[in-house]
Amino acid sequence: MGESSASIIGRPTPRVDGPLKTTGAAEYAADFHFEHMAYAVPVGALIASGRIRTIDASAAERMPGVLLVLHHGNVGELYRTVPGDDNATNSEVRSAFEDDIVRHWGQHVAAVVADTFEAATAAASAVKIEYEPAAPELRASLDDYAGKRKSVSKRGNPDSAFASAPVKIDATYVTPIETHNPIEMHASVATWAGDTVTLYETTQGVVNHRVVMAQVLGLPLENVRVITRFLGSGFGGKLFPWPHTAMAAVAARRLGRPVKLSLDRRMMFSSVGYRPRTEQHMKLGATAQGKLVALRHDYLNLTSQLDDFDEGCGEATPYLYSVPNLEITSALVRRNVGAPMYMRGPGAVPGLYALESAMNELADELKMDPLQLRLINDAETDESSNQPFSSRHLRECYETGAKKFGWERRMAGIGSMHRDDKILGWGLSGASWSAMRMPCTAAVEFCANGRLCVRCGTQDVGTGTYTIFAQVLHEKTGVPLDRIDVILGDSALPDGPMSGGSWVTGSVLNAIASGAENAIKKLQQLANSLEGSPYHEAGLEDISFSNGLIHGKDQSPSAGMHFADILALARLNGLSAEGKTQPTADDPKAKGVSLHSFGAQFVEVEWEPEIARMRVSRVVTVIDAGRIINPRAAANQIAGAVVMGVGMGLLEETIRDPRTGQPINGSMADYLMATCADAPQIDVTFLDYPDPAMGKYGARGVGEIGLAGVASAITAAVYHATGVRVRELPVRIENLLESKTLEA
Ligand code: MOS
Repeated sequence: MGESSASIIGRPTPRVDGPLKTTGAAEYAADFHFEHMAYAVPVGALIASGRIRTIDASAAERMPGVLLVLHHGNVGELYRTVPGDDNATNSEVRSAFEDDIVRHWGQHVAAVVADTFEAATAAASAVKIEYEPAAPELRASLDDYAGKRKSVSKRGNPDSAFASAPVKIDATYVTPIETHNPIEMHASVATWAGDTVTLYETTQGVVNHRVVMAQVLGLPLENVRVITRFLGSGFGGKLFPWPHTAMAAVAARRLGRPVKLSLDRRMMFSSVGYRPRTEQHMKLGATAQGKLVALRHDYLNLTSQLDDFDEGCGEATPYLYSVPNLEITSALVRRNVGAPMYMRGPGAVPGLYALESAMNELADELKMDPLQLRLINDAETDESSNQPFSSRHLRECYETGAKKFGWERRMAGIGSMHRDDKILGWGLSGASWSAMRMPCTAAVEFCANGRLCVRCGTQDVGTGTYTIFAQVLHEKTGVPLDRIDVILGDSALPDGPMSGGSWVTGSVLNAIASGAENAIKKLQQLANSLEGSPYHEAGLEDISFSNGLIHGKDQSPSAGMHFADILALARLNGLSAEGKTQPTADDPKAKGVSLHSFGAQFVEVEWEPEIARMRVSRVVTVIDAGRIINPRAAANQIAGAVVMGVGMGLLEETIRDPRTGQPINGSMADYLMATCADAPQIDVTFLDYPDPAMGKYGARGVGEIGLAGVASAITAAVYHATGVRVRELPVRIENLLESKTLEA
């Protein structure tokens, strides 16, 4: 096939797990069925704050097929996670059934288990709960906050520099609650064998999930196994365990039967996290020539009663621009809501919406091209840490994007650009996301059946992880892709990272590559030491390996011996070796540099004033995310993120009833997300510069960066088309009705 000569790294490679998914053979958590399985359905609180006075389960318990009603009064011992351990990171597991306090609408207060899902669902509505309600704190806006603020990053004197700056922007930007909406619902299937539990889960981190559930269930770590073979996405909502896992496990143990618990989408809107509302006050000061002199970014974010969840809106602010005077502060505002959770590009995505919106406003104030403003303020080094960037090509992202988009044809006047009978608006924005390598281990095994496999306790959230791991093995060994098995999604495998933070690619590829090298070395040693092997005592330095064959250094590879034949000769079923990834945090080469991905987003909107219709028609996105392993899967990530950005800009918002805290648009029909019909024409370009600080392949990962900057480019384009400045997402028709272009 000649596949081994030209590198497969960087080649658009179709998903190795594609056929499994398209034929329905891929097993997702809720697909696991067991003999004698029972079904659990949670009961959510109908108040946002107060106490449970009584739970009367008698009617539910008498209903046909009902086996058990669990609640705080009978659940038995569940434990908290160890403080300071970074494992749980949301309060819900900690507080599952711990007491009679209700802290938010939809909090799981009981679970009904029955022979069938239908029986459990019917009985769940027959559980009578009397509450002692308290006045809930549900105010949507956070602007009443008057408490302390934490200084996140500071240099120079931003306040005096702002005061004396000739050109200023002083504005507040708001992002609403957004809810992760994976296609696959959160689910847990628990089966016990003695004191050992296996949990089939929807988790973005099997290793962490196991640690947390062992602590919560009070079991030794070795008695818990977590399996997630496939995920229908997560966006961060599945990073950490939620209480339904504990319910399924407790119910299964109590009944001595496997128990399946699958949330429905309504429950998803109130019990498994969301991106919290943010209110970000931006102050930019610049010279008349547009050079930044002051930058303040003071943000608030929503959190729950028990969590100290900091959205981290200042993630990208300290290093994106060169500015001598800067401060970022943060504060959390508690309401009666469930725990927030990281959502695709946490911190950076809402933070860049504010920062880049303010930059676009500054450009308008200066009557300067916003692209020009970016270029004159581009940072040469990370001025917050005084470190050089490991690899930063933001300027090239802008220049490449501008060319592809045709930015030079932009006419600055509001409503001045037309196509057919539509008004066009053009906007742009910078993008950035952090990069790091997490510690992990991968085991690579040559098998006697002629297959090659890699095992790692990470998982594929749907992004292409299976495929890029196979690509690396193919590149290292020449074994064809269809003879490579990638085994993921099981906490029994060697420790792997969460599918979060865009970490997996940059982290695990290093471990796989060194695992493959170590396995090849072992194979060569075997060939050398094995009696009867044609390479017996040939000397290690004279034994080569290519295309799956052991051969003499001076011999044509095709005359060599297949690894399967060597293993057969040695009467071995397999030969395995581990490889490890050194985390960037411990790597002297990575510790001294500022590690980030960058990008530029160019957006065109079409505005039809006659019918007040606003659509994103075209997006050009240029991404600098280090080496791209699989341009096909990677472009898919970026394009998907751009579509999500259209939702963030124009559609997405979780609205709560101010009396009860119930999400009133908590369904696929009512929560608006960008669909195919909303998707613009998307042009994705990767710069593809390997990042020397990221190790072997120089890849930084692409799961999140594509969403950064899209919303601020959209609002800039909306302003350009309509003259309406929207500082609170999403852009609504009501906002656009203020457009002067409607008067024509
Ligand atoms: Mo991502 S928010 O780390 O799943």
